Amino acid sequence: MTQDLKDYMDEKKAMVDQLLPKYLEKRAVPEKLKQAMLYSLTAGGKRIRPILLFAVIEALEEDPKKGMSPAIALEMIHTYSLIHDDLPAMDDDDLRRGKPTNHKMFGEATAMLAGDGLLTYAFEVIAGDALLSAETRIRLVEALAHAAGPEGMVGGQQDDLDAETKVLTIKELESVHSRKTGKLLNFPVTAGALIGGAEDSQMQALSRFADHLGLAFQIGDDILDIEGNPDEIGKPVGSDIANHKNTYPSLLTMDGAKRKLVHHVDMALSYLHESAVNDIWLKQIAQFILYRTH
Ligand code: IPE
Ligand code: IPE
Ligand code: MG
Ligand code: MG
Ligand code: MG
Repeated sequence: MTQDLKDYMDEKKAMVDQLLPKYLEKRAVPEKLKQAMLYSLTAGGKRIRPILLFAVIEALEEDPKKGMSPAIALEMIHTYSLIHDDLPAMDDDDLRRGKPTNHKMFGEATAMLAGDGLLTYAFEVIAGDALLSAETRIRLVEALAHAAGPEGMVGGQQDDLDAETKVLTIKELESVHSRKTGKLLNFPVTAGALIGGAEDSQMQALSRFADHLGLAFQIGDDILDIEGNPDEIGKPVGSDIANHKNTYPSLLTMDGAKRKLVHHVDMALSYLHESAVNDIWLKQIAQFILYRTH
């Protein structure tokens, strides 16, 4: 990663890290629930989804501050998905973002409620954002609900669980990954395009860029579950094998998975080129996903 990209990503991440807890601090939430929500929100994620959202707005030459509420809401929903994903009834993992998982700290019942709280509060954050027009807010709420919901992330998670007892085709696995992970990586690009005033043809090309990027991101995650360094990725390796998950390496071998990763990043970059946005950071962010080690 170049120093410039690192500085850019660090700056955006710092902005999100600083603001996220502020959205909760003054709210009348039972103390244990608030602590559980804050614990996972501030445990130190990469904030790659908010960074993408800001980068798309900037590529369309609009003020990135207009993306703050959808970026915060998205990070809340992503964090909820991780809390629930780690529960014993799902992937049963003990480590997340370098710390004990939410249910290890607060118990399963509070972990479920912390997830529920983050999911619902996210929509309040967007709906109440006076920087955006009422129409933009509604379109963002609809897009985020769709990405996170039963046709998106939640549906992908269901199919991911059901696949633990069977072997999927690569096409089926692509569908699972596109929904469980791809949809929440498509949202920041689509939201950024909406806020940045992208034309229809740009919107379409950017959305395809995001779909390939999202798939590449989960293929990278599958690879890191085998080859990653737990200190760096902040979660255990070997979780997928222990849970009999279908993954790109399990279906295609490690070499095959790496070739698919390169293919989807290449596809993403060609759609980015087609979108003709004034790209400052997006290409480098896509390459970061290709070479990431955490
Ligand atoms: C992890 O997402 C779960 C997946 C969808 C692959 P990230 O790798 O973005 O996790 P954080 O937010 O940095 O912890
Ligand atoms: C989960 O995929 C994607 C989510 C919707 C949370 P994984 O189960 O592979 O994510 P990690 O590896 O636990 O972060
Ligand atoms: Mg999972
Ligand atoms: Mg998991
Ligand atoms: Mg994983």
